Amino acid sequence: MTPVLDINGLGNGYGGADVISGISFAITEGESVAILGRNGAGKTTLLHSIFNIGPPCTGQVLLNGHPIARLPTYRIARMGVALVPQGRDGFPELRVRESLRLATLTARVASSHPCTMETIYQQFPRLYERRNTLCANLSGGERQMLALARALLTQASLIVLDEPSEGLAPMAIRDMLQPELLKLRNQGYTVLLAEQNIALALAVATRVIILSDRKIIFDDSTQEFRKNPDIQRMHLGL
Ligand SMILES: Nc1ncnc2c1ncn2[C@@H]1O[C@H](COP(=O)(O)OP(=O)(O)OP(=O)(O)O)[C@@H](O)[C@H]1O
Ligand SMILES: [Mg+2]
Repeated sequence: MTPVLDINGLGNGYGGADVISGISFAITEGESVAILGRNGAGKTTLLHSIFNIGPPCTGQVLLNGHPIARLPTYRIARMGVALVPQGRDGFPELRVRESLRLATLTARVASSHPCTMETIYQQFPRLYERRNTLCANLSGGERQMLALARALLTQASLIVLDEPSEGLAPMAIRDMLQPELLKLRNQGYTVLLAEQNIALALAVATRVIILSDRKIIFDDSTQEFRKNPDIQRMHLGL
């Protein structure tokens, strides 16, 4: 089966200094993969390289077998991959329903996971309750739900999330974010998740990749990761 995402020898950096180099991994349909690494390990740089945001990367990136490394970001998005960015600033001046409607405008025609405003309101009842609220007035957890819902409305089949737990209260992570990420996994979405919250990553991911010193130093199942306290201590500072 062709992997959903296939990365070969990827490198990137800023001002001539490598942040990541020689990164290779593939993700098959339905996998839920967590990228872990300390602050500044290059998680965002890696995710942005997939979307061709920031400096152009070296190496090869295939999406469902198609090379995308030099394509403009909007074209990559239209091929069925969505980014929930770190920080999730979004459109504070819009109402929730307007922000969701905007996401539907960029939707692809064909999708293995058809998603409409109605299905989104069923999946996220909180967003339905808040549909007339300005995005600026949402709580952190609600804002993260909105960002996720917007990604789903683009009809993406690969969902990429950059540290969705950042800045959220532990209760919002446990009661809002974690159940939604598990739902995605159970619905068969392919998920790539950068996180510093190890507990969340282990709860929702089937596989763990660790970035350290510009490289991938671990790539195995969540169970194997749990058996490796040395890796966790040395490279994640746990
Ligand atoms: N636009 C930029 N210009 C220059 N250096 C950058 C830029 N963006 C990131 N860096 C540097 O690249 C390195 C990797 O940053 P990156 O944001 O990819 O890490 P990260 O793993 O996502 O970290 P965090 O967990 O804090 O989000 C850091 O040293 C950072 O300072
Ligand atoms: Mg980051």
